[in-house]
Amino acid sequence: MFSKSFRYYKGELYCDSLPVRDIVRAVGTPVYIYSLRQALANLQRLQNAFTDLGAHIHYSAKANGNLSVLRALIEAGAGIDCVSGGEIFRALQAGAQPSQVVLAGVGKTPDELRLAVEQGVGWVNVENVAECAVLDQAAGALGRVQRVALRLNPDVSASTHRYIATGHGGAKFGLAENALRQLLDRQADYPSLRFEGIHIHIGSQLGDTTATAQAAKAALTIARAYPDIRMIDIGGGFPVAYEPGRVLPEPEDFARILTPLLQSFEVILEPGRSIIADAGVLVSTVLYRKEQGGRSFVILDTGMTELLRPALYEAHHEIVPVIVPPDDAPREAVEIVGPVCETTDALAHGRLLSPVAPGDYVAFLTAGAYGAVMASNYNARPRPPEIVVAPDGHTWRVARPRETWDDLIRGET
Ligand SMILES: Cc1ncc(COP(=O)(O)O)c(C=O)c1O
Repeated sequence: MFSKSFRYYKGELYCDSLPVRDIVRAVGTPVYIYSLRQALANLQRLQNAFTDLGAHIHYSAKANGNLSVLRALIEAGAGIDCVSGGEIFRALQAGAQPSQVVLAGVGKTPDELRLAVEQGVGWVNVENVAECAVLDQAAGALGRVQRVALRLNPDVSASTHRYIATGHGGAKFGLAENALRQLLDRQADYPSLRFEGIHIHIGSQLGDTTATAQAAKAALTIARAYPDIRMIDIGGGFPVAYEPGRVLPEPEDFARILTPLLQSFEVILEPGRSIIADAGVLVSTVLYRKEQGGRSFVILDTGMTELLRPALYEAHHEIVPVIVPPDDAPREAVEIVGPVCETTDALAHGRLLSPVAPGDYVAFLTAGAYGAVMASNYNARPRPPEIVVAPDGHTWRVARPRETWDDLIRGET
């Protein structure tokens, strides 16, 4: 079993009650398949873990912004954490209440800030002194008062890959404590803003709870000195097990340290991958084998254009055959590579894999987060379809069709 929803049954990979092979035969590869049942269960688990805090979960749309995914999570009570005007548009299209939307991001444009105020988003998380002036002006021009959470850069080192750490002093994210305090002291200079929250997000895929506790304490110290601060937004970052057997803190571990600290505050969480990563797979077909330079290559019809994380972060994804090989088939160490004209288009090096041959299907596990959203048309590759399996586990539908060659040139002259 890879997650509750993706597991082998009778010799093949299933998504809930459906054989993955049946979906793949109908729509081709590469293809993303999401289990809404798993995503909803993940949301429920986080809601349960943080129930004593009454924490409100704003799913981070950047992890997977497919409308069907957003809709299911919104219907189950999630708000949405957005980082662009485009994500606000998606969230609203999916049915989010504007008051349940948070706009965050290190470089929001004046247009995006105006859109947020116009639409009435619940919170804007500000991370720059100059951004306050732009937002204040936008809100003033619209005759509105915007609630703001100031993003603290707590200068802590998160236990994670350096490319996804955001809370250290040298990072581009957040406001240093003194800059943040100065803003709070100068609230009167921003008549159209109400500084009522502190936001922290120290990184993704957090390997322990220590830095989160430090960051929360730093936020609390400030919040206690400014009675108008009534909300603390802890951000996302809850890790998922990309590799079997890897011991990682669970949502309940984070809840255990945060619950006593944040009792008297409204609490927002912005989880992304912990909700959708293990609810999705990317399925690919083996195109060719090649022995070369002492290495054995498996060449797939998917690569960095559909799953960028290995090339971008040296990330690990488990890769499993869709049809279980015979028990006695010895595994071999292979280079698993994509078709894109880049040496970094390698999905795994020296990976032990059951023998696969051209035509076989393989599935990349835990690919529901930061998979489709990071897909590109590089090498003029149409992006794959996204399939959702309904919470009933029995029915599936195309939530986003495969792009066509016409899509690739739409609007070009
Ligand atoms: C501000 C903010 N919130 C939430 C998230 C979601 O993180 P994760 O998917 O690791 O939960 C991110 C990820 O980059 C982020 O930057």
